[in-house]
Amino acid sequence: MTDAPLVLGIETSCDETGVGIVRGHTLLADAVASSVDEHARFGGVVPEVASRAHLEAMVPTIERACETAGVALTDLDGIAVTSGPGLAGALLVGVASAKALSIALGKPLYGVNHLAAHVAVDQLEHGPLPEPCLAMLVSGGHSSLLLVEDVTTGVDPLGATIDDAAGEAFDKVARLLGLPFPGGPHIDRAAASGNAVAIDFPRGLTSRRDLERHRFDFSFSGLKTAVARWVETQQRAGATIDVADVAASFQEAVCDVLTRKALDAAATHGVEDILIGGGVAANSRLRAMAVERAAAKGLRVRVPRPGLCTDNGAMVAALGAELMQRGRAPSALDLPADSSQPVTTVVA
Ligand code: KG4
Ligand code: ZN
Repeated sequence: MTDAPLVLGIETSCDETGVGIVRGHTLLADAVASSVDEHARFGGVVPEVASRAHLEAMVPTIERACETAGVALTDLDGIAVTSGPGLAGALLVGVASAKALSIALGKPLYGVNHLAAHVAVDQLEHGPLPEPCLAMLVSGGHSSLLLVEDVTTGVDPLGATIDDAAGEAFDKVARLLGLPFPGGPHIDRAAASGNAVAIDFPRGLTSRRDLERHRFDFSFSGLKTAVARWVETQQRAGATIDVADVAASFQEAVCDVLTRKALDAAATHGVEDILIGGGVAANSRLRAMAVERAAAKGLRVRVPRPGLCTDNGAMVAALGAELMQRGRAPSALDLPADSSQPVTTVVA
């Protein structure tokens, strides 16, 4: 293969049916069909609803991606798919579709780790990954700090949330404040006109004692409870809730902990580049705070544009292309969907 590989990537780990097509580091198409509206009235993703929506969206989304990229399926060099972690039923739809394509086209199949794909996607925007780098992935389903030596083989988990994911905290607090699901973007918007130091919400796992055991771990459930208590107390006292101030103060607490721990992890491991990904990386305050705090320490921060931070097929295709370029072995055709695939398993 002389040209960079042309790879189609399929992502169905949660509620987005994503199909991306890349040639090496060049993004050609990123088609996404989301079932988020179908989950909104439940305040969270309903796995069975997501699986059914993936089934319905899969073929049209593949067709849309090929049309946008101007390629035929027969032009592809490889197929990549998220094999885990994620919702079991949802993953199965993507894995079965990818296997069908791989067999029909006679092209290699790569079952890849969702978190490693969140890291690899940045190449589509900012070029080759700085390796080693420190990756902070924050979304509705995960919050982790990873040391990435080689995104195709060596991803080392340094820490993760011990309760709620960062995005989950945004969604739950938004619900408390009467904002729609998913709450992250609404909190972000409300916070823009609020006072971030109006309320001093707790910073989870930052006390000296907690740092001994959980230096690079996160906890957001105490913060969520603190916001709930604060809102209840105000309501009982008959006071009106200043949604903007609560949103800004809550957001400040989350971003403060995330950036502090990411910088500490980077410094501890002697890494100069920090990469942020996942849906919460779309948060305006997180982006600004990370850039500012990193610059003060002489570190660099890379954050893909918001559309590449949330779940999409392009990230899976990007990792697939990287695996092919670095000559990594493909997956077997009996590849399972693994809802708890460890991040150390980049290719299943
Ligand atoms: O990566 P993603 O699309 O799906 C998961 O893998 O979970 O992330 C979705 C999460 C939701 O919790 C959503 O509220 C959050 O990302 N999110 C945000 C923002 N945009 C999306 N959180 C904070 N600020 C935002 N601007
Ligand atoms: Zn994700």
